Amino acid sequence: MFNETVLKEIDEIKGRYPDFRSALLPALYVAQREFGWLSHEAMSYVARTLNLPEAMVRGTASFYSMFKHKEAGRHLIQLCTNVSCMILGAERLVDFLRTKYGMEPDNTTQDGRFSLVIMECIGACGTAPAMLVNTDFYDNLTEGKIEEILDKYK
Ligand code: FES
Repeated sequence: MFNETVLKEIDEIKGRYPDFRSALLPALYVAQREFGWLSHEAMSYVARTLNLPEAMVRGTASFYSMFKHKEAGRHLIQLCTNVSCMILGAERLVDFLRTKYGMEPDNTTQDGRFSLVIMECIGACGTAPAMLVNTDFYDNLTEGKIEEILDKYK
C-alpha cells in the first residue's frame, strides 16, 4: 500500500522516537498526504507499520480535525462564518460558492476540485471575511476576490 519511498520516510520517522506511539501523528500525516484522506484501510496500514493497535490509531486520527475521514477534493477551502466574518458578508460568500461553483459545506464538488468546510474563527477578525485554501490564507474577501483566488487552484 505504501510505496518504498513512503516506507523509508516512515522508518525515518520511527527512528526519531524511542516509542512508536510518538511516531503516530507524523505517520498519519504521511498517510493522508499520500492518499488524500484516511480510509479504514490506510489507518490499518499505519497500525501495522508502527506495530500499534488499530483502535489506538483510529482513536487518535478521529480526535484531530485536520485528519480527513472521507475522500476530499484536490483543494480544501476553509471559510470562516463566525461573528466578524458573518457581519462582513461570509454567509453571502457561502451562497456565492454554492451558486457559482456548486459547493456545499462538508462536501466535495462533482469534479473533485474543491471541498468546502465552514470554520469557526480563524484569527483574522480584523480583516474579515477570511478563508484558507489548503494552507494559503486569504482575507478581505469579496465575490470577485474569491473568483480570482480560486482560478489559481485547478
Ligand atoms: S470571525 Fe472570521 S476570522 Fe474571526
